[in-house]
Amino acid sequence: MEKTYNDKVVRQFAVMTVIWGIVGMSVGVFIAAQLVWPELNFGPYFHFGRLRPLHTNAVIFAFGGCALFATSYYVVQRTCHTRLWGGPLIPFTFWGWQAVIVAAAVTLPLGITSSKEYAELEWPIDLLIAAVWIAYAVVFFGTVARRRVSHIYVANWFYGGFILAVALLHIVNSMAVPVSLTKSYSMYSGAQDAMIQWWYGHNAVGFFLTAGFLGMMYYFVPKQAGRPVYSYRLSVVHFWALIFTYMWAGPHHLHYTALPDWTQSVGMVFSLILLAPSWGGMINGIMTLSGAWHKLRDDPILKFLITSLSFYGMSTFEGPMMAIKTVNALSHYTDWTIGHVHSGALGWVAMVSIGSIYYLLPRMVGKTEMYSPRLVTAHFWIATVGTVLYIAAMWIAGVMQGLMWRAVNADGSLAYSFVEAVKGSYPFWAIRWLGGMLFVTGMLVMAYNMFKTLGGQRTVQVPLVEPAHAH
Ligand code: HEM
Ligand code: HEM
Repeated sequence: MEKTYNDKVVRQFAVMTVIWGIVGMSVGVFIAAQLVWPELNFGPYFHFGRLRPLHTNAVIFAFGGCALFATSYYVVQRTCHTRLWGGPLIPFTFWGWQAVIVAAAVTLPLGITSSKEYAELEWPIDLLIAAVWIAYAVVFFGTVARRRVSHIYVANWFYGGFILAVALLHIVNSMAVPVSLTKSYSMYSGAQDAMIQWWYGHNAVGFFLTAGFLGMMYYFVPKQAGRPVYSYRLSVVHFWALIFTYMWAGPHHLHYTALPDWTQSVGMVFSLILLAPSWGGMINGIMTLSGAWHKLRDDPILKFLITSLSFYGMSTFEGPMMAIKTVNALSHYTDWTIGHVHSGALGWVAMVSIGSIYYLLPRMVGKTEMYSPRLVTAHFWIATVGTVLYIAAMWIAGVMQGLMWRAVNADGSLAYSFVEAVKGSYPFWAIRWLGGMLFVTGMLVMAYNMFKTLGGQRTVQVPLVEPAHAH
């Protein structure tokens, strides 16, 4: 029986979370700049069309993915009172995942893509992803199976659900017929292909960008607040309701398309239902702080975690509204969608990850807190202002675009040309760029604080595996 936790792999993934966060978000800032200053579209490799998928892959799978690996490995060991299980599979998940990221960074600018959004990587990389993911599942569930407490804490249910669902989504959506090493064609065609792609796409949101991060919420919010989860019963209802409902909502990405009409309606209705479990979870997280609200005043990690939940609540209210067909008729194709995406991505996913990583980093080197808690506070304010600038600019631009596109004169002709809507959007794209610059600045502050924390002497002992007991 090993006496200590395996924190090496947690530390590796935590460090790479910050590094890939800086890389992926800097690409975001660059493509935001390209929309303001089109001269920045350089040559065939570095224009908007090729760098945009690089941004989405880097922030979702490199930044978000590393945060999920780091925290799930940290949490599953602590809550199962056992060392991570899986031998060589453990470092394989780390190095394999980094190899996937590097392969993405090389192939996407070269224009090697399957052209399916959030699943752009070509088949050889898809095979590597599948291998790493199966290894991840073996390590995670192997560790849960060897737990020395009878209960499986709810955070592990969310992480486990996320791991299983992503395996299913990735394997089904990536089925393709290769014609060369760098080119394949989807196994599905026409409307079926679109339907499967957005079953994947929406559940990438539901499981990759949500369920795993809810796992973080259920561990790190109670830990940092020093209080038990507000309602454990609600957390179990939250889990089952969320995973059941998400699976059906995908067609809201394909309103008014060749998809059968009834599937669009099913997608809309399930999206509206999704408001309930989403808000149930959000309230459960925030109410965990009840009786300890004063801690929010001077604890910057709690500020990150609780603010992330507020953004989660906001984006999961906005999403169901946008899924209503008549609202979608206005929002689709506009920057409103981009605003919604980033209130989820920056406000929820990035903030909950940043808060959780700040919690675990010092513990990786036997310290009790970050090198500079004041810099954590500074990061919080920079990130919050950046996020608000980004999403407010996109909401205004989006609604303006939607209204301009549909405005007609008395004779039925369009009131505005498309170019006029583009011109009107420039100031808002500039504000979005500024918001992004702020967010990346915050990440650089985090990197400095991280390296200062990881260096130097330990102040407390290596944490030992907690003794076995039954709840
Ligand atoms: C109850 C929860 C949610 C619902 C019902 C929902 C619904 C929607 C709808 C209707 C769209 C627009 C589809 C279109 O017009 O093309 C959309 C887009 C999107 N949402 Fe959400 N949303 C929810 C939560 C979230 C969260 C929490 C995130 C991120 C963490 C997120 C990320 C995205 C992304 C990335 C897209 C853009 C997809 C694309 O077209 O590339 N959503 N969502
Ligand atoms: C500094 C921070 C960021 C900046 C400046 C930024 C900027 C951008 C820009 C300019 C686009 C293209 C919008 C368009 O096509 O009009 C975009 C798309 C996107 N970004 Fe970001 N981004 C940032 C952070 C993030 C993060 C942290 C995530 C996820 C965790 C994320 C996820 C996405 C997604 C999913 C899309 C595609 C949305 C869609 O197709 O509807 N971004 N981002």
